[in-house]
Amino acid sequence: RTVYVNGDYLPETEAKVSIFDRGFLMADAVYEVTSVLGGKLVDFAGHTARLQRSLSELEMVAPCTMDELLAIHRELVARNDLDEGGIYLQITRGAAEDRDFVWPDPEKVPAGIVLFTFAKPLVDNKTLDEGIKVISVEDQRWARRDIKTTQLLYPSFAKMQAKKAGAADAWLVEDGFVTEGSANNAYIVKDGVIITRQLSTEILHGITRAAILRFAREAQMQVEERPFTIAEAQAADEAFVTSATGFAQPVIAIDGATIGTGVPGTISKRLREIYTEEMR
Ligand code: PDD
Repeated sequence: RTVYVNGDYLPETEAKVSIFDRGFLMADAVYEVTSVLGGKLVDFAGHTARLQRSLSELEMVAPCTMDELLAIHRELVARNDLDEGGIYLQITRGAAEDRDFVWPDPEKVPAGIVLFTFAKPLVDNKTLDEGIKVISVEDQRWARRDIKTTQLLYPSFAKMQAKKAGAADAWLVEDGFVTEGSANNAYIVKDGVIITRQLSTEILHGITRAAILRFAREAQMQVEERPFTIAEAQAADEAFVTSATGFAQPVIAIDGATIGTGVPGTISKRLREIYTEEMR
């Protein structure tokens, strides 16, 4: 693969970053994952808007303009001949001379930037058709989940617990209510109503979530943005998750309890179809 690192396009084996990079030492970095469908970037404007918000919340200065970022994304798609999959982008607070909890002056230490592509079937994908099982775990992440930082140890830990329990993913629970999935937004469907937690600092403002809710409302489906419990989810007719790399993905069991009839629900499947059609 050809990757992008701090201004250069390089073979992945030649790309290097400093051991003092604050992304590496302190997870002092933000990221975005944009999906690529038929060689085209999906909802890039949404991803850059969220990126700019993450950067400004952390007082980080982008190393380039958003137009330059778009050009780099397109160049990587072309150089890697990418048809379906995604692009990972990470911006770090750069490599200060030493390890310090105090942020360096952005005038003296420029931000670091890394991008790479990955291939993944997004449309024809068996697990997306069959649905996944999830378990619930306590949400022990920091409280600013609306900022997309690379502090992913807890979500990764939660996903490992799911794997050990024979499930594919974890739903995170705080004060008895589901916040979101380890790397996706969580939904249930009851009596035709799509229920998902409202936006706040407690969850990531999913770009796919915004599109799915817009398409659902356009299709005259009912949407309720409010928290729900695991018990309510287990008694729901359907459940699903959304993310850039999974689109809408059905959930068929939660903590061992089958959802609905144990197969992907009609609304989940319909939303997946609509999303794919609209984004193609
Ligand atoms: N994860 N919630 C969390 C905690 C996430 O990490 C993600 C995305 C989402 C969905 O956001 P979006 O629809 O914008 O992808 C929700 C990415 C895909 C990842 O970490 O790989």
